[in-house]
Amino acid sequence: MKPLNKVIINKDTSFNPIWIMRQAGRYLPEFREIRKENPNFINLCLNDDLSSEITLQPLKRFDLDAAIIFSDILMLPYGLGQKVEFEKNFGPKLGELNLNEIARTDEIDFVEKIHRVYKALKKVSSDSSLKNKNTIGFIGAPWTLLVYIKDEFLINRILLIIEKFLKIHIKNQIDNGANVIQIFDSWAGLLEEKDLPNYVYSPTLNLVNYVKSLNVPVICFPREIKNYKEFCDIVKPDAVSIDYNVDPKKILRDIKIPIQGGLDPKILLTDKETLKKEASNYLEIFKDHPYIFNLGHGILPETNPEMVENLIKIVRDFK
Ligand code: CP3
Repeated sequence: MKPLNKVIINKDTSFNPIWIMRQAGRYLPEFREIRKENPNFINLCLNDDLSSEITLQPLKRFDLDAAIIFSDILMLPYGLGQKVEFEKNFGPKLGELNLNEIARTDEIDFVEKIHRVYKALKKVSSDSSLKNKNTIGFIGAPWTLLVYIKDEFLINRILLIIEKFLKIHIKNQIDNGANVIQIFDSWAGLLEEKDLPNYVYSPTLNLVNYVKSLNVPVICFPREIKNYKEFCDIVKPDAVSIDYNVDPKKILRDIKIPIQGGLDPKILLTDKETLKKEASNYLEIFKDHPYIFNLGHGILPETNPEMVENLIKIVRDFK
């Protein structure tokens, strides 16, 4: 059984697998080298030779338990024909949403636009180095995509369209070797409580049920929502990833399902001793609970790779 499945499915507490959100990317010199030669980020994601290589870069360096495919949550609007650009020091810039264009897009058009993500997944998941490791596919949750897509009138219609294509995206990732799906709802914390059922719980529940119907474990990361317990009670993911503002002792009391993550990525910018103290705190609190080690958000670009090495050693030496 793959390491994440042991924890998520078998509720194994005898060890803590580790992978790191945004592990394939900006903080690695070998990534920056490739990136320098490839100024168009979307094209880089769609270059399956390079994107599979980038996916495996952190696993060449570190003893991690999973690879996450080098892609982006914004491949979804890209696949729907929206212009998506990444500007240096600015972040993503999306063009006007053209509903007519979206309405004309069918599954075949969508898959044709982004099929090289699936090709990269196929390469990665069949690589012999991943035989005993997980390959993680992912999507952005509908609400987090809406934050980027933004449209005043047609939000509910767009939610349904997004959901339809997210299911297609999930299915293709699984068909090409993804054996865990993580749903990133990075902007869930922006919503007022009254809007959570409509924009977070209900669409995410549909997607979670869809992943479950394909017999693949699904991890949800509803970043910065105040009530993780309510989220888990309603959406029922197989595991939940917590952000660094969550009190680990409280969540341990509140939630029965396997837990992932928590450690503030800024701790990786401090020193070895602080890292040991802070990481051990999570390991100690969750020692009798199924727990996957990860951060409370993506690893920061200025992180020294040596600190990642230290972190993995701390986790491996814990039990
Ligand atoms: O985890 C991994 O290593 C796999 C690849 C991955 C990327 N983005 C590559 C990427 C994953 C899982 C994502 C998810 C993602 N993308 C999220 C959810 C997770 C989170 O961090 O909250 C969000 C909100 C996005 C949208 C996005 N993509 C933003 C805001 C940006 C620019 C700022 C940033 O974080 O870098 C991106 C670009 C992006 N996606 C880069 C990478 C490696 C940087 C591209 C570059 O080199 O300029």
